Amino acid sequence: MKYRGRIVSMLTGLLLVLTWDFIYYFVLHYPVDVKVDIVFTVLILFISYFMGKNFDLSHETLAALKKNEERVTLLNDEMNHVLQSIDEVVFHTNAKGEFQFLNQSWEDFTGYTIKESLHKNALHFISLYERHEILRLIRQSISLKQAKTKMDFSYQKRDGQFRWGEVNIKLNYSENGELLGTVGTISDITERVHNEEELMEMNETLAIESQKLSVAGQLAAGIAHEVRNPLTSINGFLQLLRDDADEKTNEYLGIVFSEIKRIEVVLSELLILAKPQSVTYKRINIIETLDHVSKLLNTNAILYNIEIQTYFHERELYIRGDENQLKQVFINLIKNAIEAMPHGGTITLHAEINSHNKVQLTFKDEGVGMKKEVLDKLGEPFFTTKTKGTGLGLTICLRILRDHGADIRVQSEQGEGTAFHILFDSVQATERRRREALQNQ
Ligand SMILES: Nc1ncnc2c1ncn2[C@@H]1O[C@H](COP(=O)(O)OP(=O)(O)OP(=O)(O)O)[C@@H](O)[C@H]1O
Ligand SMILES: [Mg+2]
Repeated sequence: MKYRGRIVSMLTGLLLVLTWDFIYYFVLHYPVDVKVDIVFTVLILFISYFMGKNFDLSHETLAALKKNEERVTLLNDEMNHVLQSIDEVVFHTNAKGEFQFLNQSWEDFTGYTIKESLHKNALHFISLYERHEILRLIRQSISLKQAKTKMDFSYQKRDGQFRWGEVNIKLNYSENGELLGTVGTISDITERVHNEEELMEMNETLAIESQKLSVAGQLAAGIAHEVRNPLTSINGFLQLLRDDADEKTNEYLGIVFSEIKRIEVVLSELLILAKPQSVTYKRINIIETLDHVSKLLNTNAILYNIEIQTYFHERELYIRGDENQLKQVFINLIKNAIEAMPHGGTITLHAEINSHNKVQLTFKDEGVGMKKEVLDKLGEPFFTTKTKGTGLGLTICLRILRDHGADIRVQSEQGEGTAFHILFDSVQATERRRREALQNQ
């Protein structure tokens, strides 16, 4: 109660006056002096009131102090809770670098207890061979009066395990520039460092692999060339033999010729893969190229009861590329589509500008489609599911498209069919962008 002190004090004062009056007038029988009595009573009550008021005020102050103390304790607890529960190590050192505060994460990080680590120099926990470098960096930051610094370091846990940490340090200076101490956090970056190392290793292996591949490619090209020449002579002499061969030998020779043809196909595809042909990148109307290819393959398709339908949304779509190489890509894709439809069907070719301003070509068939295992291996050299296939068709396509900076995607459903989408940068869009950039300059 706010006025408790004042009420109790005044009541006590009043009781005092009454007791005094009783003793004075009734026990000692002094004559009544109203004036003195009133002055005396008022004085006592006045003093009681102020004493009571003082009591009330100090009581209020005390209560407020207690409340504040409780709030400070609560805040402290909360702060401690936050500090102790974050994953990073939080530390505070004095000017000599000795730990003055460490949170709980320190124990998980290093395996050392907080108690045994406090008042020890922070450098003691860093690998010996990095200690000097870290000390040099910190001294440099201090001499430059930097407020913050950050570094990676390796350390050894109590159980001998090597780990990596990233430390962010805030350096506190006095007004005359003397270092007072540091506050900072340490986070565990061991995983990141290991991932980076793995990535670097992988890059190195890839570089070696691709070098090996290019050497293998050159070798293959050499061998293909070497094999091709004797093959031509074999072919020629066999032709001569055929002229006066009997029926049986003729039949065998037919098989030999078809096998030679197959060897020639493999060799020429190997040569394309290994040895880049002379390519000339020009501005080409891809609609025209597609039209040529579809007309070229249409007669072949009809033999298998297949119709090639074209849906060209524009009459002209320009891209930059080598027409012969792109024809090879389109022929391979249509050949695959034909081979995927043993019972006939329709192949549809679409060419359009998509919503990202790219030239998008689609080759869609209603063939057998592909299983996931086949899809995963698509484009791998010599991967084929066909008895007479070389498995180089798509490898060549991918290589040519990669050289053209084009993207290729495949959608395939077993028993439903397959669609290959190829995305090229449109020359129109590129030229428009360039013009706009020039105008904006
Ligand atoms: N349109 C398609 N439909 C179903 N399967 C396909 C299609 N295109 C490719 N494939 C699958 O991908 C494999 C690899 O195709 P790729 O063109 O590289 O070689 P190939 O056709 O087998 O032989 P090559 O083209 O050298 O004569 C094929 O064997 C086939 O299983
Ligand atoms: Mg093929």
